[in-house]
Amino acid sequence: MSDAGVKRGTFITLEGPEGSGKTTAARHLAEWLRTRGTPTVLTQEPGGTPLGEEVRRIVLHERGMSDDLDPRADALLFAAGRAQHVASVIRPALERGDWVVCARYLDSSLAYQGAGYGNDPVELRRLQDFATYGLLPDLTILLDVPVEVGLERTRRRSEWNRFEDTEQVAFFETVRAAYLRLAAGEPDRFRVVDGSGSVEAADDAIRALVEPLLA
Ligand code: TYD
Repeated sequence: MSDAGVKRGTFITLEGPEGSGKTTAARHLAEWLRTRGTPTVLTQEPGGTPLGEEVRRIVLHERGMSDDLDPRADALLFAAGRAQHVASVIRPALERGDWVVCARYLDSSLAYQGAGYGNDPVELRRLQDFATYGLLPDLTILLDVPVEVGLERTRRRSEWNRFEDTEQVAFFETVRAAYLRLAAGEPDRFRVVDGSGSVEAADDAIRALVEPLLA
C-alpha cells in the first residue's frame, strides 16, 4: 500500500451484480466480526462520506443527469467519491487497526464503467490506482448470481435508479461476465461465493473464507 500509509487492519470488499446480496452480506459479516472482538467499520460505495452520498445521488438517482452521463464523466465521479472515501474513512480505519468491510469498491468501476460502459480497461485501472492511492483489498468476495435472479430481487425495491432504463439483461450479463473475469485474473485476492441461495448459506460461505484471516 505504497502511498496510503502504514496499514494494520484488514480490508474486505464485497462485489457482485445487482441483487446479489452484497449489502446484507456485508452487514452480517461486520456484525459477526464484531462479535468476535474485531473492531470493524462497515461502509459502502457509492457513499460512505458526504461527498460519496452526493455522488450517489447524481450518478444513480438524478433523472436527466444520471441517465445521460458521458462514460468518462461517470468513471470520474465514482472515482472522486472513492478517493474521498479512502482518504477519510477506509485508510484511517485501517491505520487504527480496524477491519473495514465495504460493499462495492474499485472492482465495481472495472465491471460497470469498464465492461458495461466501454471505458478503456487500462486507463480505468490507472484511474482506480490514482483514486485509491493504490489501496487494494486484502480479500474481495464476489457474490455471483444469475442475472435474472438478481434482477428479480431488485424489482422489489422502490427508488428509481438509472439502470432501470437500460437494456437490463444484456447489460448485466456483461457486468457479471466482467466480474468473473476479474476474479479469475486475480485469484489471490478474489473468492467467488454463490449468491443464489439463502442469506444464511452465503453468510456461512463468507465466514469460512474470513475465518483464516482472523488467526
Ligand atoms: P446500490 O443501490 O448500492 O446497489 P447494490 O445493492 O446492488 O450495490 O447501487 C449501486 C449501483 O452503482 C449499482 O448499480 C452499481 C453502480 N456502481 C457503478 O456503476 N460503479 C461503481 O464504481 C460503483 C461503486 C457502483
